[in-house]
Amino acid sequence: MNKYIQLLVFFIFLIVFIKDVKSQSSSSSSTDPISYNGWNLIFQDEFEGDSLDLSIWNQISQSYDYNDELEDYIPENIVVENGYLNIIAKQQDYQGHNYTSGKITTSGKFNTTFGRLEASIKMPYGQGYWPAFWLMPEDSLNLCWPTGGEIDIMENLGQDDTIYGTYHYSTQCNQNEENGGKTITESYSSEFNLFSVIWDPNQIVWMVNNVPYFNVVPTTELPLPTTNPFYIIFNLAIGGDWGGPVGESTIFPQNMTVDYVRVYKRSQ
Ligand SMILES: *[C@@H]1O[C@H](CO)[C@@H](O)[C@H](O)[C@H]1NC(C)=O
Ligand SMILES: *[C@@H]1O[C@H](CO)[C@@H](O)[C@H](O)[C@H]1NC(C)=O
Ligand SMILES: *[C@@H]1O[C@H](CO)[C@@H](O)[C@H](O)[C@H]1NC(C)=O
Repeated sequence: MNKYIQLLVFFIFLIVFIKDVKSQSSSSSSTDPISYNGWNLIFQDEFEGDSLDLSIWNQISQSYDYNDELEDYIPENIVVENGYLNIIAKQQDYQGHNYTSGKITTSGKFNTTFGRLEASIKMPYGQGYWPAFWLMPEDSLNLCWPTGGEIDIMENLGQDDTIYGTYHYSTQCNQNEENGGKTITESYSSEFNLFSVIWDPNQIVWMVNNVPYFNVVPTTELPLPTTNPFYIIFNLAIGGDWGGPVGESTIFPQNMTVDYVRVYKRSQ
């Protein structure tokens, strides 16, 4: 081979190599896949802007009166910067409550029936934190809970590294039937982990870092939703019946940080 061509090939190789290394190191979670064979990306938020994209999200203002929780959700505690969504939990006097936090939903702006839904999340640490990434049916305001179903992709109680995935359903108001699984994710509050479900007509599979740990199949008592569109919710609750009161050593403020959320549908 001509010496000049050899040199040229060498430089092209060098440039491609450097670009590859650069793109890996600049990404905050370079090991996460950005596409899956057999799936089409239909929705994503990488949180690259300097504010929450209100064309796809609703910021909830809500004095929470479910589950004996202690927080008020206020839009001020939702901050998008440096490529992340931060939901900040603060200890502060606010309209008779002692904590503020945040909740966002895609209701009316994005919803899906079936799909692969995933988010890369780092959670706060400490007794009293209750972060969640979950799905509710768009018509849930007209249906009483949980007759339309509820898919909890990820819930955690901040004092330990257990990750919960749960499906709720009932034929009657407030008569909750549920089927849930759990797994351990030791780095839940020190690193980003990928929490997801694959929701198909005949089953829902729960995964952490794309490793399945639980699934539900439809039964007579617990059918799966097949027609309702569901929307996405991120929130960081404080206290409440499930996790119990805030621990004395729990530190405020802390964040539930989301690197990205993506939704895929199976390609036919
Ligand atoms: C929480 O999020 C806010 C807003 O992005 C940021 O300024 C703060 O440093 C974060 N706190 C922690 C502990 O990461
Ligand atoms: C807020 O904290 C104060 C002081 O600990 C307590 O007396 C009060 O009951 C708390 N309020 C609520 C709504 O939990
Ligand atoms: C589902 O979301 C779309 C926007 O993508 C919206 O137009 C529609 O009203 C939503 N469906 C329901 C039942 O709210």
